[in-house]
Amino acid sequence: MEAIDTVIDINHFEFAGQHYIQTEGTAIGSKLGVSDIPIIDVLINRFQRIDYTVVEPDEVEISRFKELVASYHENGKWNAVDFKFNMVTIEQYLQRLEDNVAAETTKFDVIHTQHCAYHFQNPEIVFEKLYWLLKENGMLFNVMDFGAWDDLAVKIQQMYNMPEMKSYSAATLREIMKSRLPEAYLRTILCRNIKVNECFKEDSEEGNEMIDFLVQLLDFRKTALEENVNEVEEFLKKSCLHSGRDMIFPANEEATVFVKSK
Ligand SMILES: C[S@@+](CC[C@H](N)C(=O)[O-])C[C@H]1O[C@@H](n2cnc3c(N)ncnc32)[C@H](O)[C@@H]1O
Repeated sequence: MEAIDTVIDINHFEFAGQHYIQTEGTAIGSKLGVSDIPIIDVLINRFQRIDYTVVEPDEVEISRFKELVASYHENGKWNAVDFKFNMVTIEQYLQRLEDNVAAETTKFDVIHTQHCAYHFQNPEIVFEKLYWLLKENGMLFNVMDFGAWDDLAVKIQQMYNMPEMKSYSAATLREIMKSRLPEAYLRTILCRNIKVNECFKEDSEEGNEMIDFLVQLLDFRKTALEENVNEVEEFLKKSCLHSGRDMIFPANEEATVFVKSK
C-alpha cells in the first residue's frame, strides 16, 4: 500500500502541475487478486471509472479473483471498475495483441507486475513490450524480491535443481531495463523486515510455517534433507540483522517504476 501511494505520489511530484487520468490498468500474474486490492482502492479514490484488465494463466486464481470482485460488489464497492479477465500467460496476451495489429490496441495508464516476473520466459522482452503499451506518462510498476530474500530463493532453486525458476533478480532486471529504456523514470523502494526468532525452534508451528513461507516450499523442515535444512538455517542466521534479542530477516522487495515519457 505504501509503495502504491508512493507510485502515485512520485507521479505528482515528478510531473508537478500535471494531472493524470489513470483509468486504464492492467494486472499481470494477479493470483487471487489480493495484491490488486490496494491498487484498485487507490485508483478508485481518485477516478470515476476504471477499466481493469487481468492477465493470469491459472484458472483457479482467476475464479478466486472473480469471487473477490463479487464480494466487493455485494458490499457496494468497486462498482465503477470494469474488469476484463484473460486466462493466459503474459506471453500469450502480448502475442494476441501482436497478431491483432490491425485492430486498435488498448493502451494502459498503469500496468503492474508483482512477484510474477520470475515466471516469465524472457522478462526483459516482456517488460519492454509492456512499456510500449503504456500511455504517455503511464506507469509500469514491478515488484520483486531483493537482496537476502532473493539470494535465499536462488539457494533453494539450486538445492532443488529448478533452473527454470528465479533466473532473474529485481536488480538484474532493473539494470537491463535501465539500459533498454534509458529515458524511463525509475524509482526503487526497499521494504519489509521479518522477525524470524521462531524459525530456529524446531517444534514451533509458527516458526515452521515461517520457514515454509521464506523458502516457498510446504513442510520444508519435514521433507528436506537434513543438510539442506541446516544450510537454510545457517543462511538465515548469517543474513539476519540483530536488534537486541530479535533476529530480523531483511525480506526486502524492490519496487521499480517506469514512467512512459513522451
Ligand atoms: C507469486 S504469484 C504473485 C501473485 C500476486 N501478484 C502477488 O504479488 O501476490 C505469481 C502469479 O503469476 C502467475 N504467472 C505465472 N506465469 C505467468 C506468466 N507467464 N504470465 C503471467 N502470469 C504468470 C501465476 O499463476 C501466479 O498467480
